[in-house]
Amino acid sequence: MTIMALKAKAPLVILLLSLFVICASLALATQDPELKQCKHQCRHQRQFDEQQQEECERRCEEYHREKKERERAERRRGQEGSSESERYEGEESEEEEETNPYLFEDEHFESRVRTEEGTDKILEKFSRRSKLLRGLENYRVAILEANPHTFVAPAHFDAEIVLFVAKGRGTITLVREEKRESFNVEHGDIMRVPAGTPVYMINRDNNEKLCVVKILQPVFLPGHFEAFHGAGGEDPESFYRAFSLEILEAALRTRRDELERLFGKQRQGAIMKASKEQIRSLSEQEEFPARIWPFGDSSGPFNLFRRRPSQSNQFGRLYEAHPNDFKQLQDLDLIVSFANITKGSMAGPYYNSRATKISVVLDGEGYFEMASPHLSSAGSRRHRGGGGFSERRKVGPTYQKVSGRLRRGVVFVTPAGHPVAVVASRHNNLQVLCFEVNAQGNIRFPLAGKRNIVNDFEKEAKELAFNSPAREVERIFRNQDEEFFFPGPNGQRHDERGRAFE
Ligand SMILES: *[C@@H]1O[C@H](CO)[C@@H](O)[C@H](O)[C@H]1NC(C)=O
Repeated sequence: MTIMALKAKAPLVILLLSLFVICASLALATQDPELKQCKHQCRHQRQFDEQQQEECERRCEEYHREKKERERAERRRGQEGSSESERYEGEESEEEEETNPYLFEDEHFESRVRTEEGTDKILEKFSRRSKLLRGLENYRVAILEANPHTFVAPAHFDAEIVLFVAKGRGTITLVREEKRESFNVEHGDIMRVPAGTPVYMINRDNNEKLCVVKILQPVFLPGHFEAFHGAGGEDPESFYRAFSLEILEAALRTRRDELERLFGKQRQGAIMKASKEQIRSLSEQEEFPARIWPFGDSSGPFNLFRRRPSQSNQFGRLYEAHPNDFKQLQDLDLIVSFANITKGSMAGPYYNSRATKISVVLDGEGYFEMASPHLSSAGSRRHRGGGGFSERRKVGPTYQKVSGRLRRGVVFVTPAGHPVAVVASRHNNLQVLCFEVNAQGNIRFPLAGKRNIVNDFEKEAKELAFNSPAREVERIFRNQDEEFFFPGPNGQRHDERGRAFE
């Protein structure tokens, strides 16, 4: 009797638990009441035109983000009086353990640079969010945005950097041993900045912001890097100022009052306005000759969109740069890819054999679903142990659906081996930039579509694995003729045999 009752209740408990997880992950993406109120007020200002309303809402978001950032910083300081660099052993506080540690939003970024003319935001350490992301310990993601006609001050970094130009037109200058190389870059360009290389850039466009997404691999402190500004003053602070004046006087053969004057002048911060003339001369570079395929061993940028897409149909396009194709990505063992998922469509499900994928949403909205064996402990394992001998004991992993809303600026992680699907909203294409680390020898295994893994099993293996006739297994796994990109779940209907039709 009691066993019967328990059995009847189990599905309900599971249902409630999964509802809870779904709600919790959605709550992560819903709006804060204060932010909502602020935006509401913007929309009800009669004297505002549409543009002013948008500007007003943008300010609400900006204010909200700053507030969240401040709060997080304060919490962090309160928790343990230690700096981030002292905590790189992969510890994290309990409150960071959330239902979805794979999803990062605005508030998980911190500004390293913030001036009138632009920002450089860095995503918190992956391993700080959750122990499940320890494998990404030594990778950081940052996003730089600069207004039209601006100069981003020279600096070098104790990290290897690969950058992707997500928006706008810039000129990036690298200072090598005794030479200087400048490259005009545009949307889709990928470029390597070797660790320690002095680099500066401009936004040479008259109207559009420059947006650059970076992945950094620190070379000294695991998971931690710094910018070093030589040319600067008070802000950005020049590291020359750390030396005693005796040393500087001797090294630069200059009197101290002149040195004090020079290194005391800059106070505009690391992103500043430049004049039309300055921009013109800084961007007057001859077009870099090695942009044409193949790129050989050039050190300049290459454009991802000039490659043929590796997957392409009406439901989406995937562009990929592999370490075998691009020497600059080789020693970093990195794939850079870009998925443009057509509105109402989806990518996957599939999984990566070795690579872990860090995805940055550049445009559009949608959501992702992923199967995780790591987050399931609370729910479905409770029937293990105990129990009557007639109950078949289930030993082995249980999978939790991890899902998250996607919109511009959101970052999400798909670990190696984890099956994932990404869905674009019905209103906009979802455009996602991906950095895949541990790329060498990676294989993408499709779980649906023409080449899915189940189709490759023998008849007998299908029968045994599914405990069903092979023909039934095949009926299902051979239904989808498209590859990688498929029509999404929105509005799709099924006939009585389970086949999808438009
Ligand atoms: C993505 O696809 C849309 C629609 O096909 C297109 O307008 C847009 O330019 C594409 N984006 C990129 C970066 O290719």
